[in-house]
Amino acid sequence: MAEIQSSPDLPWTVRLFVSAASFVTDASRRSNYTVNRRLMNLLDFKSSPLTKPRNNLKSSDVIVDHSRNLWFRLYTPTVAATKLPVVVFFHGGGFSFMAANSKPYDDLCQRLARELPAVVVSVNYRLAPEHRYPCQYEDGFDVLKFIDNQSSSLFEGANLGLCFLAGDSAGANIAHHVATSASGHEFRELKVVGVVAIQPFFGGEERTESETRLVGVPLVNVERTDWMWKAFLPEGSDRDHPAANVFGPKAVDISGVDFPATIVFVGGLDPLQDWQKRYYEGLKKCGKEAELVVYPNAIHTFYAHPQLQDSGALINRLRDFVQSQIT
Ligand SMILES: *[C@@H]1O[C@H](CO)[C@@H](O)[C@H](O)[C@H]1NC(C)=O
Ligand SMILES: *[C@@H]1O[C@H](CO)[C@@H](O)[C@H](O)[C@H]1NC(C)=O
Repeated sequence: MAEIQSSPDLPWTVRLFVSAASFVTDASRRSNYTVNRRLMNLLDFKSSPLTKPRNNLKSSDVIVDHSRNLWFRLYTPTVAATKLPVVVFFHGGGFSFMAANSKPYDDLCQRLARELPAVVVSVNYRLAPEHRYPCQYEDGFDVLKFIDNQSSSLFEGANLGLCFLAGDSAGANIAHHVATSASGHEFRELKVVGVVAIQPFFGGEERTESETRLVGVPLVNVERTDWMWKAFLPEGSDRDHPAANVFGPKAVDISGVDFPATIVFVGGLDPLQDWQKRYYEGLKKCGKEAELVVYPNAIHTFYAHPQLQDSGALINRLRDFVQSQIT
């Protein structure tokens, strides 16, 4: 298999970032499927919340459950004229890495909050392999219940009836599964009206065409994704587990589930793209409202780099998607 150019026109800042991110995760994940957290924490730079508003945005960390260190970072635009939609965001990192306060995710959530605009809830869910499936899905669902249960002023600028579940990579996998759980739940006020799946991390035993062809691209390869599934899924299960292969041989039929409108973002240089397209097709086949957006020159995590044109295009597309659910 020939190594392909990662992408001819990637700025050096992006190349440096993806090389560093690959190095850090490869160096801290062990062959026995554990993570060297000390090393990881040393290299995963964290940002503090914006206790004083900056560029019309403030943020704060809200604890949901001390006993499992479940909390979220809440981003609130300070100059909204109307009640804003709520975006509950799940960060990526293969279920094992990163946090709500990791700098790249803090930056991304600040952008989403300002540019959509929206009240953003960035969930700090538990990580694998210390906490495997379904802890991450449970944490996500518990955050929704917590938001719905607030009588405090935390969400006074938010329209809880207009709630989107969003995530990138493993976070988009979590958004999908939390949306499935949420659809059968009676909330007081909260209503999930959309799912935003940015380069979702799905998989299966099969090796797809894009996984086999796109060797040598930034961040994603089958050696890494196999490791992530092994660290996340219950011991002894294979990648056709319904958490990974959502429309595969062991999948749970969601035809009867009242699943919200979904937008799926795909990059043409992402080896995961075939699984992502199948996800979109699976939703359509089950009669769900779904939209597919493909950026042919985009690598995995392109959205995290505002200097890439596709990153701004994604925010614009997302704003349209949010608007389309308002009427
Ligand atoms: C995994 O490997 C690390 C480093 O070699 C070791 O400290 C740890 O105890 C091992 N964990 C398990 C569960 O085997
Ligand atoms: C909702 O809030 C009440 C009162 O603060 C609390 O007792 C209850 O446990 C909360 N439920 C959830 C699901 O957070």
